Amino acid sequence: MPSPLEGKHIALGVTGSIACYKAVDLASKLVQSGALVDVLMTEGAQNFVSPLSFRSITHRPVITDLFRPESELSINHVAIAERSDVLIVAPATANTIARIANGISDDPITTTVLATKAPVIIAPAMDANMYENPATRQNVARLESWGYVMAGPAEGRLASGLTGKGRLLEPQQLLGCIGMALGRKGDLAGRKVVVSAGGTQEAIDPVRVIANHSSGKMGYALAEAARDRGARTVLVSAPTALSDPYGVELIRVGSAREMREVLLGQCDDADALIMAAAVADWRPKEPSDRKVKKGKSNEWNIELIKNPDILAEIKGEGLVKVGFAAESEDFLDNAQSKLLSKDLHLIAVNNITAEDSGFAVDTNRVILLDREGGVQEIPLMSKYDVAHHLLDRVVTLLR
Ligand code: CTP
Repeated sequence: MPSPLEGKHIALGVTGSIACYKAVDLASKLVQSGALVDVLMTEGAQNFVSPLSFRSITHRPVITDLFRPESELSINHVAIAERSDVLIVAPATANTIARIANGISDDPITTTVLATKAPVIIAPAMDANMYENPATRQNVARLESWGYVMAGPAEGRLASGLTGKGRLLEPQQLLGCIGMALGRKGDLAGRKVVVSAGGTQEAIDPVRVIANHSSGKMGYALAEAARDRGARTVLVSAPTALSDPYGVELIRVGSAREMREVLLGQCDDADALIMAAAVADWRPKEPSDRKVKKGKSNEWNIELIKNPDILAEIKGEGLVKVGFAAESEDFLDNAQSKLLSKDLHLIAVNNITAEDSGFAVDTNRVILLDREGGVQEIPLMSKYDVAHHLLDRVVTLLR
């Protein structure tokens, strides 16, 4: 399964902001995902980063001028507008936003934006006061009303030293925004997909929890892949160290019982539930509301009580249910009985003892079992690619 970015033409407009360095990283990530990246730069941008930096990464000419004879746009000024699958302006200054909002086309970026029929993403980066200024607010609102995607800005520390709204989104988030724009008419468009991720935490006292080794990576990859196929995606996540995926509705929970509550509500109108979370089977029967002191004893026995089986409990007319089976032995037999007892359409079997497909790594290797006795082996690949294989099956089940 090739990356959704493979062979896609992405136009990256870079304008004059200190955040230009993030655009270099974004270009690199796009190229690594197989995209063909045309970089267009304003004069201001060239004060921060050299066109050569982008050229070295993209292996393609960088456009800095509309009229220079060696510029492709001097021969056909709408060439990039026509071939691009997505156009992203990142970072977008207040000045460039104002010019786009007024239909001005006096440089390669504004000309290409004006001429394209592809989705346009604008990722602002500026001082918070400039962003809050009524002129910018109005320009942004205008672009939104025309269907442009405004990606960010985020809140945080700004180049001025102040903290506020105006930071360019991180390259990984911008990549997510591009994936989402490319997949907006994908095979999950109009569907709601609910994904659970991470390992639940069960309180012993206000300081201590019973946790597990789940990193959440498989669930987050599933949510991103569903987003990139056009689904409205809800990610119900137990604690993880991962950053929020762009364009996914993220609901954070702690314990299995909290996860159950949220999932029961979310699955009412969902088309598919993919349960990648490592749900604790047991929780302390009587968690203390004060920190338990060490005391003099050398032993501490904690009585546990069983948690609800969320996946077994959730039922829905037409809801496609997919589970994961974390196994260290008798893989297929154990997974088969979970498939039946939890009334699933599909179960992905994980060998958690393998180093390249267990917890915390970026790759996975699974076996998919279905109700009809079908067995599909998915060899070692990135968790994002595994997610797409699994979603191929979900799409078929939904038809
Ligand atoms: N699951 C769940 N609620 C639980 C336990 C598990 O919804 N209380 C879900 C998991 O998210 C996973 C599937 O059920 O999709 C199988 O989880 P797994 O931990 O492999 O199996 P268990 O049912 O917990 O059985 P065991 O621990 O005995 O292997």
